[in-house]
Amino acid sequence: MGWDTWLGESGEVTPSLYAADFARLGEQIEALLAAGCRIFHFDVGDGHFIPPVTIGPVVLRSITPMIHAAGGVIDCHLMVADPAHHFPEFATSGADSVTFHIEATADPRDVGAAARALGLAVGVAFNPDTDVVDAVAFAQAAGAELILCMSIVPGYSGQPFLPESYARIEELARLVRMPIQVDGGVGEENVAAVRAAGARVFVAGNAVFAGPDPVAAYRRIAAAGA
Ligand code: DX5
Ligand code: ZN
Repeated sequence: MGWDTWLGESGEVTPSLYAADFARLGEQIEALLAAGCRIFHFDVGDGHFIPPVTIGPVVLRSITPMIHAAGGVIDCHLMVADPAHHFPEFATSGADSVTFHIEATADPRDVGAAARALGLAVGVAFNPDTDVVDAVAFAQAAGAELILCMSIVPGYSGQPFLPESYARIEELARLVRMPIQVDGGVGEENVAAVRAAGARVFVAGNAVFAGPDPVAAYRRIAAAGA
């Protein structure tokens, strides 16, 4: 199992649970699963690689059973220093995929292999100030199935999409065949343009969860990006 089996022909919206209402997390996930959402994005921050501490394995293992029971998967975006240190606990907590940052490790081959050895799919992420060509070389060395182009400086939901990201996604799409995920400031108003630039997987936090009806927002973004 991996990204090639999770993705269909059209674009895929992956709600970022970091932006959910944590008092109602299970309810919001159930509603999104019922609406057809199958891939969830789980943002892990350690207070070092990014300033905030976000959510981790304790929250993860409370939600993976319901996601897996519905045929869904959960992709963990590790915004942490020393990502490989955390892989075993993410694997035992039910993660399906880990996406780690080029800026967080110097050793793509070993880190990618460590994830695969635990049965985790592998993605590689890169920040807005990282060179696209360097990110591609790192992702290929890691054996990544997916590459994540950050369209904000990672740390917080609700930031505006950086417009220079369009050219970076286009450059990436010329260089790789693996699916391109875009994370940060994506919503109904720009998802079609992000798709046209070459991305297939769209992370949406604020755009799904900030309003009163996450399911309706998810459906609108999915329709706009399909
Ligand atoms: C930020 C996270 C993002 C974030 C996206 O550091 O990696 O996944 O939750 O949220 P929005 O869609 O609100 O920019
Ligand atoms: Zn993220």
